[in-house]
Amino acid sequence: MRAGEVLVPRLGVNIDHVATIRNARGGAHPDPLRAARLASEAGADGITAHLREDRRHISDVDIQRLRRYITLPLNLEMAATSEMLDIALRHRPHGCCLVPEKRQELTTEGGLDVAGAGEQLVSFIRRLKQAEIRVSLFVDPARHQIEACGAIGAQVVELHTGPYCEWVNDGNGAAAAAQLERLKQAAALAADLGLEVHAGHGLTFDSVGPVAVIPQIMELNIGHFLIGEAIFGGLDSAIKRMRHLIRQARTDASGVQSA
Ligand code: PXP
Repeated sequence: MRAGEVLVPRLGVNIDHVATIRNARGGAHPDPLRAARLASEAGADGITAHLREDRRHISDVDIQRLRRYITLPLNLEMAATSEMLDIALRHRPHGCCLVPEKRQELTTEGGLDVAGAGEQLVSFIRRLKQAEIRVSLFVDPARHQIEACGAIGAQVVELHTGPYCEWVNDGNGAAAAAQLERLKQAAALAADLGLEVHAGHGLTFDSVGPVAVIPQIMELNIGHFLIGEAIFGGLDSAIKRMRHLIRQARTDASGVQSA
């Protein structure tokens, strides 16, 4: 990086909800692979897909096709189960983000309890790393969870931005600021422990800026809002605007003139 250049977080585009719409009718349209190609053309730095145990959106075939036809790094979100481990080892995505999963939830509700996890998670992470798959753990921005991520051998933490985004959506500035402070402290601690820091969940045009400004954050993973916006203005335009807002926030915070 040259002097005066601003390090902008990468944008991983989560395409799960293209599959949600496809599955509503059981056919092949809209195709998540086509969305991934469009995301790539619009400047996404990576593609994220969550293969859930109940296959409610992304399917096994989607993962196979994404690996075969997309050159961007694939971040496979999954629960730490033996079924998912086999799938990850078969497809060898660039990275796996381990998330908690409950069948009845609408979306991932909280972070992984790494602090309370046992030897099983340690060996799960070891198997992925042996296959040269980068391991990320999706956690709440809590000190004990971040410290546990450092101790367990993960390379990346993804901080759960959901509660912060909900307060922004509700217009509760004080509660949003408190959550943002937790994210900042967690990001600083994670970086001190040598972990790469990512963040995601619930981010929108309105909430992304203050998170993008946190200097340790290297990647943001965003899905639902982008796919929703794509209905109104197209995926290309939604991704470009999100990238612009991320860059603008970092540039403004650094005091460097935007290109
Ligand atoms: N990061 C993780 C770990 C997630 O589970 C999700 C949702 O699948 C996201 C990011 C993206 O969240 P959203 O779809 O709300 O942008």
